[in-house]
Amino acid sequence: MCGIVGYAGEKSSAPILIKGLKALEYRGYDSAGLATVEQDNIEIVKSVGKVAVLEEETLKHNLKGITGIAHTRWATHGKPTTLNSHPHSDCTGDIVVVHNGIIENYKTLKEDLLSRNHKFISDTDTEVIAHLLEEKLNNVNDNLEDNFLKAVVEVTSILEGSYALGVLWKKVPNTIIGTRVKSPLVCGVGENENFLGSDISAFIEFTNKAIYLNDEDFIVIKKDEIKIYDKLLHEKYFNVIELDINAENSGKNGYEHYMLKEINEQPFTVRSTIEEVLKDINHAFGITKEELKNIKNIMMIGCGTAYHATMVAKYWIEEFCNIPCQAEYASEYKYRQVAMPDETLAIFVSQSGETADTVAALEKARAAGFKTVSICNVFASTLARMSDYTFYTKCGSEISVASTKAFTAQLAALFSLAVLIADAVGNISSDKKDELLNELAKLPVAIEAAVAQDKNITKLAEKYYKQSTFVFLGRNVNYPIALEGALKLKEITYLQAEGFPAGEIKHGPIALLNAEMPVISIMPGDKLFDKMVNACEEVMARGAKSIAITDEKGFKLLEGRVEEAVILPNVEEYLFPFLSVIALQIFAYRIAKLNNREIDQPRNLAKSVTVE
Ligand code: G6P
Repeated sequence: MCGIVGYAGEKSSAPILIKGLKALEYRGYDSAGLATVEQDNIEIVKSVGKVAVLEEETLKHNLKGITGIAHTRWATHGKPTTLNSHPHSDCTGDIVVVHNGIIENYKTLKEDLLSRNHKFISDTDTEVIAHLLEEKLNNVNDNLEDNFLKAVVEVTSILEGSYALGVLWKKVPNTIIGTRVKSPLVCGVGENENFLGSDISAFIEFTNKAIYLNDEDFIVIKKDEIKIYDKLLHEKYFNVIELDINAENSGKNGYEHYMLKEINEQPFTVRSTIEEVLKDINHAFGITKEELKNIKNIMMIGCGTAYHATMVAKYWIEEFCNIPCQAEYASEYKYRQVAMPDETLAIFVSQSGETADTVAALEKARAAGFKTVSICNVFASTLARMSDYTFYTKCGSEISVASTKAFTAQLAALFSLAVLIADAVGNISSDKKDELLNELAKLPVAIEAAVAQDKNITKLAEKYYKQSTFVFLGRNVNYPIALEGALKLKEITYLQAEGFPAGEIKHGPIALLNAEMPVISIMPGDKLFDKMVNACEEVMARGAKSIAITDEKGFKLLEGRVEEAVILPNVEEYLFPFLSVIALQIFAYRIAKLNNREIDQPRNLAKSVTVE
């Protein structure tokens, strides 16, 4: 979490830093701050709230520095207050630091520093770094640049945890030093200006050339020079990657919120992702059919919405491939004793490719010797760079914190991968393979029809938006969609929403129901339709309101046995999640809007969670 930006160039740095922070705001938005250095003066401006507040505050200061660092925060240690906002300084105010990550041993370090009379003004873990640097640099008056770098290397060697850092020292005014361990950091290479960022969006408007840093790289950035060192202070060779994304159109295109825009983009993003796979499915994921042939076990790992995508794919994989398959939360996988059978394929799903839990789980899978495939949306993200193979979903940037278009693109990728594996292990005929892929290729038209249900779903939302609890039910591939529908609703409305396998409600959750409570059942006219009807009957017998998310087939079979219905097009039953999830995304969006919520940046959340 938290976003870092740095600028070393010829222009006034503050407006450039603010632009970078705005692009990184999805990483955290409870407070923000920046520091610029001009000759021997460091100026710091901080504020609580969104970057827009910092922008206003900064205008009052007329900052001239052409080198600067900035930060947008998602609080881990210490409340979101001005004092806890970054950048943090040492006792002299000569050194400033921005940090993304968690310094796990900060308490011990802070006690030591306090015993040596350092004065702390914040509750953060980050502040120790500035004070530790102060001890190294206090009496340094020669070889300033070398000593600055040496100090950063020495100080970071005693830090435990995860960090991406940007550091300024007044005595080397036009230089930023950056380093990382387990938190992302990228350098943007410009003409007479260079950048630092938590990801490329921090500077993509200015340059599409980037250097991705590895753990324990130390980068020294000036306007016309970039050097990278290892922790033994040996200079390292580095690659500058030219990204083929020129400043993407990241505006709202007339939509009121990014979330609504992104929901509406799904016919295109799913189509692009499917086209990318179908160009050459045998090579789309990098992993060859030969490598897949002997796979005996599949692990899929993700967090939040990405985890729900893996849960849907588990049903596909077991059905098409007849291979045992598990879907697991990354945060659980990492810290439990897991069975590590041979011939396991580990699949990691993440929009950002930076989620710390997912990255940690990947490390574990790699250590076990598993083949690893990642499905990510962000080019050259940490997960992508660490996996044996990566498939990139074709979504463009997803800005809204609540994930929508990334989810359906992940489903498209996972469905195709399931078919590829089924073919490689010989569990489906080539006719069946073609049939499954043809059905997938037809999906975007049905997705358009699902998106077009907005008006009907809005009417439903108008009826129920004052309710405080919502229950979502589904079976088989639609059970994870019940979870995802509930997650979307809680993320952006702050209302209580629970998803359950429909067959389970009688084993406990039914006790939750009361008159008027909306219970949303995902029930296409498939083989489990009658079972879903049973659940609806049980719900209505308790006076709760039964709402069906169904297809045309299912609607005919329903014969008015529910209170309300959203009718989606008929598709093969294993593909219904693509449509039902869109209906539930819209439902959550409309309820949030009617409740006047901060839809794109809900409280307490961040889009890219780079701390464990
Ligand atoms: C956060 C976001 C979720 C997202 C999850 C996984 O919790 O708030 O919307 O699903 O991270 O993110 P990833 O980038 O790994 O898909």
